[in-house]
Amino acid sequence: MRLLALQVQDFRNLPQVQLSPSPHSTIAVGQNGQGKTNLLEALYFLATLKPLRAGRLSELVRWGTKSALVTGRFLLKGAEREISVEVGGGTRQAFVDGKKAPSLEEYFGGVSVVAFTPDDLEVIKGGPDARRSFLDRAVFNRFPAFLRESREYARALKNRNRLLREGHAVEAAYLEAYDETLAKAGARIYARRRALMAELAPRAQATFASIGRTVDPATYGYHPSHLGGDFATADEPTLAAALRESLNERLRRDLDRGFTSVGPHADDVSVTLGGRSARAYASQGQQRALVLGWKIAEIENLEAAMGFLPLLLLDDVSSELDPERNAYLMSYLAKSGAQVFLTTTDGSLVRGAAAEDTLWLSVHAGEVVARGTEASPSP
Ligand SMILES: Nc1ncnc2c1ncn2[C@@H]1O[C@H](COP(=O)(O)OP(=O)(O)OP(=O)(O)O)[C@@H](O)[C@H]1O
Ligand SMILES: [Mg+2]
Repeated sequence: MRLLALQVQDFRNLPQVQLSPSPHSTIAVGQNGQGKTNLLEALYFLATLKPLRAGRLSELVRWGTKSALVTGRFLLKGAEREISVEVGGGTRQAFVDGKKAPSLEEYFGGVSVVAFTPDDLEVIKGGPDARRSFLDRAVFNRFPAFLRESREYARALKNRNRLLREGHAVEAAYLEAYDETLAKAGARIYARRRALMAELAPRAQATFASIGRTVDPATYGYHPSHLGGDFATADEPTLAAALRESLNERLRRDLDRGFTSVGPHADDVSVTLGGRSARAYASQGQQRALVLGWKIAEIENLEAAMGFLPLLLLDDVSSELDPERNAYLMSYLAKSGAQVFLTTTDGSLVRGAAAEDTLWLSVHAGEVVARGTEASPSP
């Protein structure tokens, strides 16, 4: 997969950007508040249809304008295709080759992206939500059908919660039918997450060992709280039956509270260092290395399993890492052969990821100007 051209119109503070990225590194340099993250966000939004920073869709549209448009031309399995997304009036519309996308599967069609941002630390420090969405992003990259499957689950969950809020008047048989659907969809989510973790966790642990500079090993684990020890081997019907049973057991409580308290939407990913919770004990630097270990593992895993590298977006990551870990990351990027977009306030921090064909961009007040392809930026 390769991005051949990117066009951005009225996205955040970027009125108009047109560029042909390098097949390897494209580096956007600029001072604070100029639009570097906005440029990455435009690309992230194009590739995921989700904003990089939490918030409402309307925030993406440049002030004083009605709609934003991001278009990318990709080379995918030897064929070129153009996807674009328009945001306006609080909604988004996706297009493939200039026509409304018939489905999201059709829209994504093999485009995948892994982003590194300073906010990623939330994955360790934050609550289960942050870790779940982190996990699910990786599952989606690895198993594109997961998009549809997770929506099915979300729909079933919403319906069940609505019924629960209607309270005890709801007929038991009616609720049972919903539980059946929810348990089946939930079992699929469990199985996908489990499959991803089986591939990813050993890689992430190994990557962490090489960058963590600590003798303590890391573990990354996923184990739904209500399931017993046989989670690793249980087949999908068994997982569905177990979820159905838990839903049943908690029905009284769920009816009182008006929401479903068990299922994949309530799970967590555990990250430990030396056998202890990373959230409670890991230092800032160790937390960064834990996230970095995961992301690099995700990239390597995608390449091994799918045969291609995702597009990598790194927002101001070098300023967050110590020189040694930064050097590790930059040389990893240079060696990986991946197509990478980096932003920085200081080009010298990311020079390790630059090569002959690096495209240097300068970003100033929403204007993005190409400064040429060379191993280091001109003064
Ligand atoms: N919808 C919008 N319309 C116009 N401008 C916006 C919009 N959303 C954000 N901005 C502006 O974009 C600018 C921030 O851009 P961005 O976050 O890309 O900066 P940056 O170059 O990454 O800076 P830093 O180095 O501090 O991270 C701010 O000045 C902000 O006011
Ligand atoms: Mg920024």
